[in-house]
Amino acid sequence: MIRIHYVDPDGNTTTLNVPDGQNLMQAAVQNGIDGIVGECGGSLVCATCHCYVDPARLSELNPPTEEELELLEEVAAQRKDNSRLSCQIKASAALDNLSITLPETQY
Ligand code: FES
Repeated sequence: MIRIHYVDPDGNTTTLNVPDGQNLMQAAVQNGIDGIVGECGGSLVCATCHCYVDPARLSELNPPTEEELELLEEVAAQRKDNSRLSCQIKASAALDNLSITLPETQY
């Protein structure tokens, strides 16, 4: 299990133990984390799984694909340098203890 910390816009943190290979949107939805919607189920069409990755660890993630970059232009909240779509981030041992912050809104 990989520990992922989900931080809401007020700074409250919920830590989940995410199975290796599961994406961070699925884990959030299954565990009732408010702030991640995941409307399209992870097929890269909705952008309602937007999150901000801890900038210090951004380089440890696989870089976004062209499709993810395009969809990041449509996120509802402010897009930042550390914006990613959580459905495109798969839990792995290397990401243990990663923090992601949830945006103010997904719509
Ligand atoms: S869940 Fe729809 S783009 Fe991530």
